[in-house]
Amino acid sequence: MRVALVGYGKMGKAIEALAPEAGAEIALVLDEHNNRDGNAITRGAFADVDVAIEFTAPAIAPGNLLRLAEAGVPTVTGTTGWYAALDEVRAAFAGRQGSLVWSPNFSIGVNLFDRLAAEAARLFAAHPAYGCWAWEMHHNQKLDAPSGTLKALVETMRDAGYSHAIDISSTRAGKAPGTHEIGFDSQVDTIELRHTARSRDGFAGGALYAAKLLLRQPGIYRFADLLFPSTSPKESA
Ligand SMILES: NC(=O)c1ccc[n+]([C@@H]2O[C@H](COP(=O)([O-])OP(=O)(O)OC[C@H]3O[C@@H](n4cnc5c(N)ncnc54)[C@H](OP(=O)(O)O)[C@@H]3O)[C@@H](O)[C@H]2O)c1
Repeated sequence: MRVALVGYGKMGKAIEALAPEAGAEIALVLDEHNNRDGNAITRGAFADVDVAIEFTAPAIAPGNLLRLAEAGVPTVTGTTGWYAALDEVRAAFAGRQGSLVWSPNFSIGVNLFDRLAAEAARLFAAHPAYGCWAWEMHHNQKLDAPSGTLKALVETMRDAGYSHAIDISSTRAGKAPGTHEIGFDSQVDTIELRHTARSRDGFAGGALYAAKLLLRQPGIYRFADLLFPSTSPKESA
């Protein structure tokens, strides 16, 4: 699997480090310096590439993704905070029979955690005596808050029928690669569900796995739709 890394920051480097054990070869690296305004994304530059993995920044991702759609490159994107442009980007890939996987979180553990959040939401919907919160913490370089993952967890809980208030908060400090928690608190007890990433390897490995799945099964997907095809409550585009 010949991979182009679009974005060579913390995630791009983590993916590069895991690529050999995932059977992937890094064929091209685009960063801020050689891809200003996305102008390095051309059919010619990607002729020898099977799939692009894009991890850049909220303001940068939509432009890169529209160009990748135009160039006909199957693409995995993990950038968060750009989803106001999601419909436009999906339409660009769909209009060219292209392939795209996006997710605010490529950790398989977080995607399993999302299922647990749905079940907790279903159970606690009938117990309004419990107050509910959703919280996340990331390193102080992260640009968007709340994280895309926390927003998706809350959306999952709403879709599962939880209509009571959810207090949502974020912390930006230190080096933490990502912690997400949902909790329920009553007069007599507290229930907490928490996912703590130990490193970026879970996200990087998941993005490489998504690339492999996408090449086998072209189309437009959220990562969860590829991971849990028969049970996913949210269908692909
Ligand atoms: N979905 C997931 O599982 C997951 C996991 C972790 C992080 N994320 C998200 O992924 C994104 C990237 O995270 P990160 O920690 O890797 O951030 P990062 O360390 O800031 O890396 C982003 C990189 O993109 C580069 N860049 C800027 N403009 C570019 C362009 N036009 N073309 C190509 N590259 C360009 C930046 O270059 P400069 O440094 O030179 O500006 C930077 O190296 C964020 O949105 C983060 O929230 C998602």
